[in-house]
Amino acid sequence: MEQKRIKIKDLLASAEAGSTVNVKGWVRTKRGNKQINFVALNDGSTIQNLQVVVDVPNFNEDLLKKITTGAAISVDGEIIESQGSGQSVEIAAKNIEVLGVADPEKYPLQPKKHSLEFLREKAHLRFRTNTFSAVFRIRHAMAYAVHEFFNKKGFYYMHTPLITGSDAEGAGEMFRVSTLDPKNPPLNEDGTINYKEDFFGKETNLTVSGQLEGELGAMALGEIYTFGPTFRAENSNTTRHLAEFWMIEPEMAFYDIKDNMDLAEEFLKYMIKYALDNCMEDLQFLSKRLQEEEKGLKAEDRQMELIEKLKFVLENDFVRLTYTEAIDILRNSKPNKKKKFQYLIEGWGADLQSEHERYLVEKKFKKPVILIDYPKDIKAFYMKQNDDGKTVAAMDILFPGIGEIVGGSQREEDLEKLTTRMKEMDVPAEEMDWYLDTRRFGSATHAGFGLGFERMMLFVTGMGNIRDVIPFPRTPKNAEF
Ligand code: 4AD
Ligand code: MG
Repeated sequence: MEQKRIKIKDLLASAEAGSTVNVKGWVRTKRGNKQINFVALNDGSTIQNLQVVVDVPNFNEDLLKKITTGAAISVDGEIIESQGSGQSVEIAAKNIEVLGVADPEKYPLQPKKHSLEFLREKAHLRFRTNTFSAVFRIRHAMAYAVHEFFNKKGFYYMHTPLITGSDAEGAGEMFRVSTLDPKNPPLNEDGTINYKEDFFGKETNLTVSGQLEGELGAMALGEIYTFGPTFRAENSNTTRHLAEFWMIEPEMAFYDIKDNMDLAEEFLKYMIKYALDNCMEDLQFLSKRLQEEEKGLKAEDRQMELIEKLKFVLENDFVRLTYTEAIDILRNSKPNKKKKFQYLIEGWGADLQSEHERYLVEKKFKKPVILIDYPKDIKAFYMKQNDDGKTVAAMDILFPGIGEIVGGSQREEDLEKLTTRMKEMDVPAEEMDWYLDTRRFGSATHAGFGLGFERMMLFVTGMGNIRDVIPFPRTPKNAEF
């Protein structure tokens, strides 16, 4: 009789010895002798492998030969109490079917430790390793937690367009979307490209942020959030930047900067708690992995143990300080005085580099830091101008090991001030008249922020490179798969 398939996670959690089940999965390893084989089987439902015990004389030799690392198999068998240590139960195979072979001469993943760099080149197969299966199970849980958090709070999930005609951040780091023939584009009389003939009848790009459209939603629905792909054509080949990443952008009517900070802190802690409550096995695996990796380092260069670090952030208030206070601290800091910073802090107005952010978080406060009230000249046009005439109600949240994880602000709600600022910053107001309508009709205090989903993933998993927390990373000169 055909057995109903059970997932390994459910089997390990609840199956009773003596029952007969079917499991399907991929072979991680096979070992043993002429009498007995042990196959470690994984089906992706958990980091745990199920041990399949194979009584060799009962099986066809050719069939057993095909059971190699990477092969997909289906096993009918009886659950038995485990003889060895580790797992509580294993399965004694009665019938094995090889669903798909994996030629050991050709299969790239061998039962040994591969480097993350090697696995990045084999990104299509890296889900089959313990490390990446753990990372991507956690990624799912984190995405789910985002929706759970906002749904519980009565926020509406809003889908903002990926193709836009505006540059929300005003940074000009956009990918063009066009169907014009690059070899022979239609030209205006002055020789520039005539985008009126392009697909949308104007210049369009992939979005750098859903915020501007999000504001339109918030100014009617009250509280919304977006969660979608975001594109930046910045040529930053770092462990923290992707050309295609996912961003969560809540936007709230009637929130000021303080409400915004409170929400962001609550949100980040919610996600961390969700991981601790729901992903413990995977976190424990990643923690061990990290400790292995850091074995050779001096004690002071090692990070706090992963789970301890997550609990620490969960249990402590974030430090809140102004940009001006931060500059004072940085100017008088050891690395600044000893000229250890690559970019020395000489005075007020300097943009903070990640070395400065990390000094504040990792050396000075040893906690997440929310920095507010930045100089208006280093921030986007839409931010609320403070009464001092110099700063805006911006907020960046800085995390240990990551640097900036959240960027947000209270928004400028005054039409006059906003349009003046747009002019000063060369933001084309004519094309953004729709945005300005929110300030013309029923304008009100509102605020929001953006969380880089992959930066959050770096923090929660302890992985060191953003390319390892998104399935198929897009970075300068790389769009494989
Ligand atoms: O600080 P950013 O540029 O802010 C905005 O886009 C605002 N519109 C957000 C808002 O107020 N609604 O980006 C927000 C966050 C950053 O803090 C960072 O975590 C992430 O997005 N981020 C990136 N993550 C990966 N790769 C990149 N190239 C990123 N650029 C920004
Ligand atoms: Mg930012």
